[in-house]
Amino acid sequence: MTTSTVTSDQLNIAVVGAGGKMGMRVSNNLQRSRHNVFYSENSPAGQQRTTDAGRSVTDTATAVANADVVILAVPDVALAPVSAEVVPQLKPGTVVLTLDPAAAYANLLFQRADVEYAVAHPCHPSVFLQRKTEAELNDTFGGIAAPQEVVAAMESGNEDKIKITEEVIRLMYAPVVDVHWVTVKQLAYLEPTLVEVVACMIGDLLNEALQETIHKVGVPEPAAKAMMMGHIQVALANGLRGDNPFSDACLIAMDYGREKIIKDDWKSIFNDDELDYVLKQMLHLDRIDR
Ligand SMILES: NC(=O)c1ccc[n+]([C@@H]2O[C@H](COP(=O)([O-])OP(=O)(O)OC[C@H]3O[C@@H](n4cnc5c(N)ncnc54)[C@H](O)[C@@H]3O)[C@@H](O)[C@H]2O)c1
Repeated sequence: MTTSTVTSDQLNIAVVGAGGKMGMRVSNNLQRSRHNVFYSENSPAGQQRTTDAGRSVTDTATAVANADVVILAVPDVALAPVSAEVVPQLKPGTVVLTLDPAAAYANLLFQRADVEYAVAHPCHPSVFLQRKTEAELNDTFGGIAAPQEVVAAMESGNEDKIKITEEVIRLMYAPVVDVHWVTVKQLAYLEPTLVEVVACMIGDLLNEALQETIHKVGVPEPAAKAMMMGHIQVALANGLRGDNPFSDACLIAMDYGREKIIKDDWKSIFNDDELDYVLKQMLHLDRIDR
């Protein structure tokens, strides 16, 4: 009979979807840890990426059989069927760690009372991070060189499991400055509402405004880009950190922009029915059962 090699400080970790975008990122970091890591991936392209990175692909049943933590790095729309396949195979006490709150919030994960459920979303390195090296400068996503924070949730509040999970989170998203523990619902309001509905949408809008300036108005691209990139820094530093007040004339222009671009009721995105609405679209669901 084979005995487990797990010691008090050595965990068995399974990454399901190891050849995907997040699977590759977290696996690159976990591979360097002292833990036993198993990689499962069902697409030939993902399997190839996994083996090209020097990792062996294990079938899911074997990968998760004795796992302390199972990372489900599969697309959100696949989490219901994948969790229904994986969770019944786990030993009691295993932590099922997903990387986005949408499926957990929408109750799509296969439930077992003796299994722990956690979600951990990387914040990505802060726009205000003082980057010191070329590698930090180039690591906009995080998980390579630039320190980032992580927001995580575990509904049960089991402190021992939170400790183990935080260790895995700090390894897989390394380098990590801090892990903030919130509820699944709070995490869902962070992502998608705060960062995708608002911040990513505005990032895209900024590019659209830049393209209009270049192509409709005819401003040379280098001039438009230089003006935009510098002013984004000022807008964020003043708007988010209060570094300097906006000038009086700028405040008038900002009011005009807000009236012209923003709908009066935009803050309804922070209502539960709107959160459900956007999650329904993202997860291709008819309704959300909470
Ligand atoms: N991509 C990002 O920037 C990002 C950032 C933060 C969190 N996330 C979250 O990470 C999770 C994964 O997203 P992604 O973008 O890496 O997805 P992805 O599509 O890039 O990768 C998913 C991988 O899972 C594999 N897979 C699917 N079903 C499987 C199964 N039954 N068994 C084994 N492997 C299977 C696929 O072949 C694929 O390689 C999602 O929950 C997503 O919300 C993604």
